[in-house]
Amino acid sequence: MEKINLVSGMRSTGKLHLGHYMGVITNWVKLQDEYNCFYFVADWHALTTKFDKTETLRQDKLDVVLDWLACGLNPDKSTIYFQSKVLQIAELHILLSMVTPNNWVERDPTLKDMVKILKSKNEDNSENMPQMSYGLLGYPVLMSADIMVMNGGIVPVGVDQLAHLEITRDIARRFNNIYKTELFNEPKPKLTEIPLLLGVDGQKMGKSFHNDIKISDDEAATSKKIMQCITDRSRARKDDPGHPDKCEVAFKYYQAFADSETVNQVENECKAGKRGCADCKRQLGCIINNKFAPIREKRQELQKDIDKVYDIINDGNKKAALEAEKTMKLVRDAVNI
Ligand code: TRP
Ligand code: SF4
Repeated sequence: MEKINLVSGMRSTGKLHLGHYMGVITNWVKLQDEYNCFYFVADWHALTTKFDKTETLRQDKLDVVLDWLACGLNPDKSTIYFQSKVLQIAELHILLSMVTPNNWVERDPTLKDMVKILKSKNEDNSENMPQMSYGLLGYPVLMSADIMVMNGGIVPVGVDQLAHLEITRDIARRFNNIYKTELFNEPKPKLTEIPLLLGVDGQKMGKSFHNDIKISDDEAATSKKIMQCITDRSRARKDDPGHPDKCEVAFKYYQAFADSETVNQVENECKAGKRGCADCKRQLGCIINNKFAPIREKRQELQKDIDKVYDIINDGNKKAALEAEKTMKLVRDAVNI
């Protein structure tokens, strides 16, 4: 039986952090054997909010792919590409925008949240930031084109993306109705089960919050950031009994990155007041550094031969465009254009 096409993308935010690793990439790596995977850097989507900050865009896109490859995305199994190199996506975006009623996108709650965050971040009142650009309004339509052009059946995403995907399904259905075709199927979301990793300060992990640990950070930087992790705030001295369940970040990282035996040991020693938080975090730093050592090494290898990395991306771009062109031939026929 032919494998189902799986499509997922990440905006080009630059070097990825441990939250991306736990929440997304390990999942993507596993899915490579079960599905025919299309993984892309959504650089057009990045422009919907960062259209006036493109100085680092090229490097950011490359950094994302370097992290992916280092973590085990395999170009022999999956198609890895840049969204903007598959022009068929833009073509489908236009055609889908014709059949998408305005109010479908206007009521998208995730989009509303994006605008709210944008407004709150625009501290310097940049005159370049419109309330809602035409491009940003089209975010879910562009995402639909990403998925539909690759004939995607499965889309691994976080909960925040479900609203967009609901629109994709609606658009697919509406296209089929209008053009009396069965060309598009309704792609199903595949929710990531792993809870999102918090930043070292206990807030949502993110580059702009300066609380993230990058996959590509070196050992010294990682250890230093781990020492900043919030622990059990009620604990004053190291021989006070601690509460792992109230240890806001450090213990959660143990649960994410250490083996179960170590987690049990930390839990017992902490509760018994036999483990100081500083020592506990020093050990945690070592565990995380050990885990990422091979990944970081691989990333450095790749970095030494960037031409080879671009060869991989160019191959992926071509493969993706071929798949997209297959769909677009049928789409153009259906629309009579
Ligand atoms: N909007 C997604 C995010 O921010 C990224 C994305 C763009 C995507 N196009 C996609 C995800 C298509 C899945 C499928 O995470
Ligand atoms: Fe958290 Fe470890 Fe301190 Fe316990 S000893 S509160 S698990 S950092």
